[in-house]
Amino acid sequence: MKNMIQESGFFEAVNARRSVRIFDQKEPFDHELVRKCMEAAILSPNSSNLQLYNFIRVPESSPLKEALSKLCMGQKAASTARELVVVVTRRDLWKSRAEANYQYIKTAYEGKSDKKQKQALAYYRKLIPKLYSKYPGWSLIKKLIAFAVGWKRPMVREVGETEVRISVHKSAALASMTFMTGMKAVGYDTCPMEGFDSKRVKKLLDLPKGSEICMIIGCGKGLPEGIYGNRFRIPAQELILEK
Ligand SMILES: Cc1cc2nc3c(=O)[nH]c(=O)nc-3n(C[C@H](O)[C@H](O)[C@H](O)COP(=O)(O)O)c2cc1C
Repeated sequence: MKNMIQESGFFEAVNARRSVRIFDQKEPFDHELVRKCMEAAILSPNSSNLQLYNFIRVPESSPLKEALSKLCMGQKAASTARELVVVVTRRDLWKSRAEANYQYIKTAYEGKSDKKQKQALAYYRKLIPKLYSKYPGWSLIKKLIAFAVGWKRPMVREVGETEVRISVHKSAALASMTFMTGMKAVGYDTCPMEGFDSKRVKKLLDLPKGSEICMIIGCGKGLPEGIYGNRFRIPAQELILEK
């Protein structure tokens, strides 16, 4: 019974969520609920548990909010948002995040097999540095190694720099999705946006050089006129395939 209630809550939120482009300006907006949804979002799965992203909050009270809305190409989803959330990838933080995992594993594996712990520690001290280090030509070398190893046995091919960047964006996008579903579950609406001037946004928010913007999410209580038409989806049988 308990499971059924939880399940229906999930599907209700997923079904009810729409990208809403005009937010209510009058009702009070609870910014604490945004934080609650972010705390849920950081429980999302993420590659190697490195958690290489930040949610940067720009609430309506921020002196940067108006300028940021303009950089979202003046979209109403940004200008009427009660808070903008900039989801930023932090590939540059890989060393400290790998170290945090390493230190956690050192303490968390007490009582478990030594071999498992050693493997997990080696993952963060040996494999992750190989994947995330940046040297001239290293991306090509990694791809050649993957190609050579993959000649004889299954091998992960996505080891080049572009694939590492994609992987970091995947994790940030998954956290964004959990955040948006959470916002619907607490009664608020969102609009994910990729229509923005990333160069100027990075400058405005003084973001680190190695960071990238995954998306900017407008948040608020949606107005009915903020939903631009009925929901359209390609038939499920074209998206869900079986082999
Ligand atoms: C990565 C991403 C970027 C998007 N960028 C924009 C955007 O810049 N402006 C906008 O109005 N909607 C944007 N959307 C919203 C999509 O248009 C919307 O999700 C899609 O049309 C499906 O509608 P629904 O979200 O209401 O189900 C974006 C969605 C995603 C996932």
